[in-house]
Amino acid sequence: MVGRYPDWEMPEFERDYIVHKLWLADDRAAFLREVGPKIRAIATNGVLGAGAALIDACPKLEIIACFGVGFDAIDLERAKARGVRVTNTPDVLTEAVADMAFALILASFRRIVEGDAFVRSGAWKKGALSLGRSLGGKTLGVLGYGRIGQAIGRRAPAFGMTVAYCDLAKDLGAPHAYHADPVSLARASDVLVAATAGGAGTRNLVNAAVLDALGPEGVFVNVSRGTVVDEPALIAALADKRISGAALDVFWSEPNIDSRLLGFENVIVQPHHASGTIEARKAMGKLVRDNLAAHFAGRPLLTPVI
Ligand code: 8YV
Repeated sequence: MVGRYPDWEMPEFERDYIVHKLWLADDRAAFLREVGPKIRAIATNGVLGAGAALIDACPKLEIIACFGVGFDAIDLERAKARGVRVTNTPDVLTEAVADMAFALILASFRRIVEGDAFVRSGAWKKGALSLGRSLGGKTLGVLGYGRIGQAIGRRAPAFGMTVAYCDLAKDLGAPHAYHADPVSLARASDVLVAATAGGAGTRNLVNAAVLDALGPEGVFVNVSRGTVVDEPALIAALADKRISGAALDVFWSEPNIDSRLLGFENVIVQPHHASGTIEARKAMGKLVRDNLAAHFAGRPLLTPVI
């Protein structure tokens, strides 16, 4: 087990497996030298993944089960070359992540975080909070129209918003405006939400040109991976007021985020928590264990990546 799983998962794992806890090791290399040769399965998560060195430290490795839908931190090439199976946890977290995207959109447009601080600090007694903006009539641009992007899009009509989207797959049969590239999508959007996969294929997809197309009234929301946005370009756009604000659940460096982001009043930050509901995390844990159990019982994997 690469990183800590929820406490409720541990008795379940420890009932069925001998669990070696990498995150507790003071000397990671020594730990891997000792237990690596015994490891048949790695339980990891979307952030910690499993790199080539970890995979290679486990010569008997058969399967990597990821507690998370995103597998960009897992070296798939190395796993494939070694004949190691990989599973993730799609679907069970989709609605929770989409809820977080909308929580961030609402928090940004309605100044929820500022309003909370305003009441707590006593500033309310001396004046009124600056006005927010309505969502009705605005266009929500969804960058990455997969399971999570579509779930975000499904919520938009309830707020009177119109959906536009951009995706690698062109014809998704969606009843929304399709944009062939992120700049075009951003130009059409009041809110641009990144819901793509991470990894090399989407690195810096949201760059300075996309942010400029979003424009001084536009808000950028990220519930995918920090790597999807060129973070220095985002910081520059915020500093120059070339976009109106940002609401971010993910960052280039977690949990040690670029402190410049914390200096902006119009930036809302979350601790990579879009799937962080008890319900979603319980379903994710069960799916990780069900995939491992299927593998060791010789049954088909429930949610294989490779
Ligand atoms: C998790 C995630 O926060 O699903 C993903 O890809 O990033 C998240 O759901 C992460 O895997 C948790 O530890």
